[in-house]
This record gives sequence, C-alpha cells and structure tokens, in this order.
Amino acid sequence: MPAVKKKTSSVARKPSTNGKHHSVAPQEVAINSVLQEKRVFKPTAAFSQQAHVKSMAEYERLYAAAEKNPEKYWSEVASQYHWFKKWRKVLEWKAPYSKWFIGGQTNICYNALDVHLSTWRKNKAAIIWEGENGDQRVLTYGQLHREVSKLGNALKKRGVKKGDRVAIYMGMTPELAIAALACARIGAVHSIIFGGFSAQAVADRINDAQAKMVITADGVFRRGNPLNLKSVVDEALVNTPSVENVIVYQRIKTDVKMTEGRDHWWHDLMDLAADVCPAEKMDSESPLFILYTSGSTGKPKGILHTTGGYMVHAANSHKLVFDIKDDDVYWSTADIGWITGHSYVVYGPLINGATQVMYEGAVNYPNWGRIWDMIQRHKVTILYTAPTAIRSFIRAGDEWVTKHDLSSLRLLGTVGEPINPEAWMWYYSVVGKKKCPIVDTWWQTETGGIMVSPLPGATPTKPGTATRPLPGIAVDVVKKDGTPCKANEGGFLVVKRPWPSMLRTIYNDNARYEKVYWSEIKGMYFTGDGARKDKDGYIWIMGRVDDVVNVSGHRLGTSEVESALVAHQAVAEAAVVSRPDDVKGNALVAFVTLKGGYNGDAALRDALRDHVGKEIGSIAKPDEIRFAEGLPKTRSGKIMRRLLRELATNGVISGDTTTLEDFSTLEKLRQQEEEE
Ligand code: WT7
Repeated sequence: MPAVKKKTSSVARKPSTNGKHHSVAPQEVAINSVLQEKRVFKPTAAFSQQAHVKSMAEYERLYAAAEKNPEKYWSEVASQYHWFKKWRKVLEWKAPYSKWFIGGQTNICYNALDVHLSTWRKNKAAIIWEGENGDQRVLTYGQLHREVSKLGNALKKRGVKKGDRVAIYMGMTPELAIAALACARIGAVHSIIFGGFSAQAVADRINDAQAKMVITADGVFRRGNPLNLKSVVDEALVNTPSVENVIVYQRIKTDVKMTEGRDHWWHDLMDLAADVCPAEKMDSESPLFILYTSGSTGKPKGILHTTGGYMVHAANSHKLVFDIKDDDVYWSTADIGWITGHSYVVYGPLINGATQVMYEGAVNYPNWGRIWDMIQRHKVTILYTAPTAIRSFIRAGDEWVTKHDLSSLRLLGTVGEPINPEAWMWYYSVVGKKKCPIVDTWWQTETGGIMVSPLPGATPTKPGTATRPLPGIAVDVVKKDGTPCKANEGGFLVVKRPWPSMLRTIYNDNARYEKVYWSEIKGMYFTGDGARKDKDGYIWIMGRVDDVVNVSGHRLGTSEVESALVAHQAVAEAAVVSRPDDVKGNALVAFVTLKGGYNGDAALRDALRDHVGKEIGSIAKPDEIRFAEGLPKTRSGKIMRRLLRELATNGVISGDTTTLEDFSTLEKLRQQEEEE
C-alpha cells in the first residue's frame, strides 16, 4: 500500500458548521435537525412601503388565491406579458407531462426587447458590462435589439431554422446574452454550455442535442489569463458530425485556427447582416432551451424548457423576489452558462426592463475588493450571489468590504446551496449594514425559476431558510408515501402541482424524466433534496438525498466523476463521495484502487485530477484522492458510499455495517486515515 503523504486539500477535515448541507438521508435529517435558529428579521417599513408586495398579509392573500384557483392565478400573471395570440387553455396536465398556455403564441425575445422600444426604456441601459481587464461597455435596449436582430439574420443565413439546436460556448460578454436572445428570436433552441467545461463535455452535449451550429469566442479573460475557448471547440468538433457552422466572437484577439467553410467571424457576419429581423410567433409550448445538469448517473441530463410558461414564471418571479424597479442597478454574479444566468441575467431582468451589471471575470480578481469596488462604482442596488462566494469573502476579511461605500445596496440575494446562519448574518450586517433584506432563493435547473423565497417587502426572514413557497407554487415536505411531514420532521422536498416553468422532459429521454423526478414519490415531483418545514411553514433545505453533491453551488454527479476516473488507464475502481467544506459547501473525495503496476504517488494523484479536469472540467476535480487496496462493498457488490462518506468526513465509521462483505477493506482504509 502506497503511503499517503499529503492531503490535496488544505481544509481541515472536521465536521464543519455547514455539515448538514451534505448528502444525507431524510431519516438522518430528522435526527440531526437540532438547529434551532431563533433570530427573525422583519423588512423595514421603508422597504415594505415601496415594495411590489408590501406585507405578509398581502403575500398570504396572493398565496391563498393561487391555491384556490391556480389556473386563474397563472392566467393573470401571464397577462402581464405580450402574446401575439392569447391562449385558449391555461394548463393541460397528463401526469407527468404538462402544457401551459395552450394555443397561445409569443416570443420571449420580443418580450425582453421589442416591448421596451415603444416606451421611454428604448434608450435605457439594459446591460452595463465590465470586462475582467476593466473594459467597459453599456448597451441600451435599443442597441441590444439591433445586435440581436442582426445575429438572428446571420443565423438564418447560415441555415438555422425554427427548432434547430444551437450550442453556445462563450465567456461572460454581452454577446453571450445576444446569442441566446437571437436564437429565441428566430425560434432556434439554445444549449448554452458553461465556458469552464472540457472538450469532451462540450462534444457530449453537442451530440446529445444534435446541434447544427456552435457560437463561441476566441477566448475569455479569467484571473488575468486569456483562456482560448475556440481551441476547446476545435477539439470537441472532431467528433460532432451534426455541426455545420461555427461563429466566433473575437474577445481576446488571440490566434485561432479558422476552418474554411465551417468557421466564421462574428464581426464579418454582423457587418453584412440587416438589422430588421421580426421575432417569430412561437407556440407557447415550443422548446426554448436545453440546459445540461448532472444527475446521479454518469450521463448529464438535458433539461428541456419551453417558451410561454418559462417566460411567465422567470419574469414574474424576478419582479416579485428582487422587487425590481426601473431605477435599480441589479447585479447577478452568476454565469449565463448556469440556470441562474438564463433566468436571472438574460430573461427575467430584460423582460422587466431592468438595468443590470454584467461582469466577465472572477469577483475576487485582481483582489478581494473587486466585487465591492464594482458595487460602489456602478451604484448597484440589488446583489444576487452564492453562499460559497460569501464564505470566501468572510475568509478574506471584512476590511475589503468596509473600505468601500456600499450605501447604494437595498436588497441582497443568495442561491445555489443552503446558506449557513453565520454566513447569512455576515452578509446581512457587514455587506447589507442591517438595512437590506436577504432573499435566500431555493430552486433548480429543472424548476426554471425561483420556487421558495422570501418576498423582501413582506416575509420576515430567519438566517438559513429560504422561507415560504412563492404564490402558485405547491412545495411541501413529505414522507416516502407522500403524506406530509410534521413540523420539523425531516423528509423529501416535493412539488405537488405542475408549475409553468417546470422542465417538460429530459431531452430525448422521457423514461429517465419519469424515473428521476416522478417515480420516487407517487404523483409528485421529487426535487432530490431533503428538507424540513418549521412551525411557521418555513422550509429548511438539508441537502441532496441522492449521489449528487453540490460543490460551490453547482451540482455534480459523483458517478460522473467516478466514470472519468475509471476512464484513466491506471484506475481499476473509483468511488467519489463528498465531505463538508467550509468554503465550497462540499469537497469531493475520491477513493481509487489502481491496476497492477501503477504506483499511488503524488504524480499520479496530479495526473488523475488533471484527467478529470479534461473529461468534465475544473469544477469536478476531486479535492482529495486516496489510493486504496479495496473499496467497501455489500454482498451484492455495491460500493458502500455511505461508509466512505463517513470516513471522509469524520475519519471514523459509526454507521451500520451489517451489509458489508469484507471488513478488512474498511479497517485498512481507516488505518490509512490514521497514518495520514
Ligand atoms: C440544487 C439545484 C437554482 C440555481 C442554482 C443551482 C441546491 C439551490 C438553494 C438554496 C439550499 C439550494 C439544491 C437544489 N440549492 N438553491 N437557496 N438553499 N439549497 O441550480 O445546479 O440546478 O442545483 O441546488 O440542492 O436541488 P442547480
């Protein structure tokens, strides 16, 4: 057995304050949920008075009305937006498949841009963009409309038709939003692939969607370094026969290889394109986008969202939760490559006619003051970010925050994982100076929009809970048989009724859609999360109950990482589990057995981490790799990840080992742990 010398992670392996975020079965949750948070924070009268929803009584009225007649409620919500043709039926529900606003015709790009052009907002700043290197650009609604129209024409000229899939792989420049909007405008289906994914991951996603076109950039600036994105695309396109054309936006002006006949410069196509491109009249249920997310098996799931229902909830939830107003400067730090960027950078804010800040790079580059400096300079009023970022700012020290003038802020938001009460309190007092409400928003790629969240002018908040479901959203905590849990009893987080922005299916895989979301609990959508509801009906998320872990606010299937590891020539078997991490929420620990002739040394450990980076992307690199002689298994040969999880977290096994086949394996792993 190779001696394990050094841990790759610098974070001590102790049960951390956010230990409860990590994958636990709801039964364990019930036992473990001893957290008694007593603090309650009411919105100030000044905030409530000016808010879209001004009191808890008003929220309760809205909620009750929506419960009484959901279709009436959603019909009223939908009426706020532009429809070329009104729907004849609000909902058709043939479980687990829903159709919303049937017979209606709309276009989400038209609602995001064109509707503003006949108002004073025509010359209002839509996007205030800042490059990591300090570049500044402002695009008004009018300018954005022109760029999107031109790109729409360029796409059509290159053969993209209604229903065709277009893969988009770019950094955070306005062109990424323009690309998505142009697809929506002409009725093409976008599949945005996060710019940190590897060539293999890009190819898998392109092939699954059979994308005809790729829109990319020469590169992006990240932590001061130019990253070449086009070369990743070139590598991916070796194995993607469906792709006919590639459009390349020039951002970093680096040398790229352009393949004659296939690759086109964005600026060349745009120079030739006309700026009139009518928005297609799209049926409410026509596909809008596919966004891939990790599941508990190795293959990413193509989450399919459609037009009308998604538009209605993304826009309305953005308005209610962020209390958005015309004079706000809203900033979501999320990348458009994730669902938060789809709903709350591209579609929600633009449909609401908001002004937003968009930023290209890392929020702590060139130093920990970058985010606060940007808030000060742009006079940001609403900030939406992730608990992992908040925890890293806490570590960096308050002085980075306090030396900036953050008095423009009026509202703070978080998303991606449970926020531990300490981090919540820091966000509230150090960033928000105890005057900004915090909206802790629970939702998923699959839900399309926020499901559980305070309404900032109404809901009294408690640190660590996303509070109550939005009006029209039937979220609950239930037992395996579907019966509701008692107050504070841990259970499964479910949605009991269809909602407009729900995923319609997993792209080309109805069977998987039915199995993953609709078979666990009869007649209900299962979120994959465990939760409890307190006596006030506030929902406390306890973490995932499946083999999916949340690392820095992003979901990763542990089996995906295992598949990547096993694909390496040296690896015989791998089991990947998570342990709590103070900054990232969870860290990944890989237990790896090697094939004969390979040495478990530091070089191999680095090689395996690089290998995972290449197969999936940097976010999936295990924080720690432990070489083992064997993995603990049940008699039927299943790896007992639960035991490994315990070992990775506490260094001891106290749980049930009655189904374990070979005790010596576990004993050896445990001893190795002590030697480290
Ligand atoms: C999973 C969804 C929705 C955009 C970002 C992540 C976890 C998300 C919260 C929150 C506790 C949260 C859940 C969920 N999660 N928001 N406010 N409190 N947990 O999207 O990658 O689809 O992941 O993130 O576990 O199921 P995603």
